[in-house]
Amino acid sequence: MPVDWWAIVFNPSFPYRLTHMVIAAYLTTAFVVGGVGAYHLLRRTSPSRAGTMFSMAMWMAAIVAPIQIVVGDVHGLNTLEHQPAKVMAMEGHFDSHPEGAPLILFGLPNQAEKRVDYAIQIPKLSSLILKHDLNAPLAGLDTIDDDKEPPVAVVFWSFRVMVALGFAMLGVGLFSLWCRWRGTLFENRLLHRVALAMAPAGFVAVLAGWITTEVGRQPYTIYGHLLTADSISPIAAPAVAASLIAFIIVYFVVFGAGTFYILRLMARLPRDPMPDLDDGPIRTSGITPTAQTEGGRDGL
Ligand code: HEM
Repeated sequence: MPVDWWAIVFNPSFPYRLTHMVIAAYLTTAFVVGGVGAYHLLRRTSPSRAGTMFSMAMWMAAIVAPIQIVVGDVHGLNTLEHQPAKVMAMEGHFDSHPEGAPLILFGLPNQAEKRVDYAIQIPKLSSLILKHDLNAPLAGLDTIDDDKEPPVAVVFWSFRVMVALGFAMLGVGLFSLWCRWRGTLFENRLLHRVALAMAPAGFVAVLAGWITTEVGRQPYTIYGHLLTADSISPIAAPAVAASLIAFIIVYFVVFGAGTFYILRLMARLPRDPMPDLDDGPIRTSGITPTAQTEGGRDGL
């Protein structure tokens, strides 16, 4: 039994996880809002409303994406301290490097042979990032028992998807700053197309980050203390299957309806101009009649 629940909640990775996750939520929202704004700008409808949402979203991307990259980097240093095997898997380091470890950009982790096939790597850069010293030694998975290694390929790739999307978000933010500076934020169709394509990027990055975290922790539920195999509750398989099926059905219905509804809202034209707020109350939702005959400010 745990001695102190607060010590579990405020564990050493808590501030890093909280900050990284909150920023991830802001970025995810910004890219959805930016994507919807871009969609309407591309259809050349309602430039003022669509432009406002697009402009605000691009400010958020330009300011917050670089912060997320720095926070992610610091988060990684904390992970190296407390869950080193996870970082070894993220980096694809099967071997220890006593005189500086390379940064493997891409490659195919081959866990059976304990190497990364077709690796494209930059010498010593991983030591520089993780230890701030080109020649700092870095331990690899060869220091970990085989049965205590996480599944490397999943962690290696999910980490790269997250980081690549982080840099893509930074790229969109910088592109928008450049267009803003040139006075073409609302005219540059390439920027609008890229922003539209990036609309789901936050969701994908969050899922990739979550997979990195959870798969990278394996085979432990509590790193170094409790194996996942020992964490299983004594519940019969049919009961687990029944609740899983119930979850699938409920989630399918709830998320299906929610997605359908949100996509319809996104496709709706932003209404221009804003009605005068002195005209009367604004209808919020449901069947409440509005003071205006046209359906209130949000037009729902
Ligand atoms: C260069 C950019 C990034 C770096 C270096 C980075 C770094 C990291 C690291 C090291 C972890 C795993 C830590 C651990 O489990 O110990 C992580 C997890 C995570 N990342 Fe990133 N990240 C970056 C970009 C992003 C972006 C753009 C998003 C989303 C918009 C994101 C969302 C997440 C999430 C949701 C987790 C899981 C957090 C948790 O469950 O505690 N990351 N990131």
